[in-house]
Amino acid sequence: MRLVKLIANLGYGSRKEIQTAIRHGWVTDREGNRLKADAKTAHEDILFDDEPLDPAPGMVILMNKPLGYTCSTKDQGRLVYDLLPDRYRMRKPVLSTIGRLDKETSGALLLTDDGTFLHKVISPKSEVPKIYEAELDRPLTGKEAEIFASGEMMLENETKPLKPAELEVLDEKHARLTLHEGRYHQVRRMFAAVGNHVTTLTRTHVGGLGLHGLGEGEWKHLTEEEKAKIFG
Ligand code: URA
Repeated sequence: MRLVKLIANLGYGSRKEIQTAIRHGWVTDREGNRLKADAKTAHEDILFDDEPLDPAPGMVILMNKPLGYTCSTKDQGRLVYDLLPDRYRMRKPVLSTIGRLDKETSGALLLTDDGTFLHKVISPKSEVPKIYEAELDRPLTGKEAEIFASGEMMLENETKPLKPAELEVLDEKHARLTLHEGRYHQVRRMFAAVGNHVTTLTRTHVGGLGLHGLGEGEWKHLTEEEKAKIFG
């Protein structure tokens, strides 16, 4: 039964479907031996339909989110989950995005089924910075860096000033911005507050973790070493 539950919880099918798969011999070990429902085979040695099983709960995915995709499980239109295997939506525990990127923001997005890890990344205590690159509608004036770094900047309809953020000017219409918190549409609202407008926005890093050469829409499972880079 353990094997049925384990595979069903990875989203490969209902328990009934997995029982059928086991009966048909579609679940094997690496030597091709058919596994029975009471097999105690290690997760990494189990094959389903000749393919290794997806990672056990505790997985962390890095995706290069394309423009036009929403970080939601049920919005209309294209969802970041559409870029992953269908069965990932059926996993238990569920796979969630760690924070969100706007539909019109691309770049580094993390997803996990590990609630403790998720909270560790978003907790203010962990101080995980997020780095964005913005293309702007108008030339930078040269005053933005000081305002963003002041710790006194107020966004409309908010009661608490923004934490200091670092701005690096790349050229007159491009800048890199490092944030130490995550408020709604924060980058766009910060530039709007100084009279500019963000035309394209990409997140290049979450903590010390970059995009690892992933093209738009590509994703990978993170190793323990890569996960550690987030906090490094
Ligand atoms: N700031 C924004 O404006 N949008 C994002 O998606 C993330 C940060």
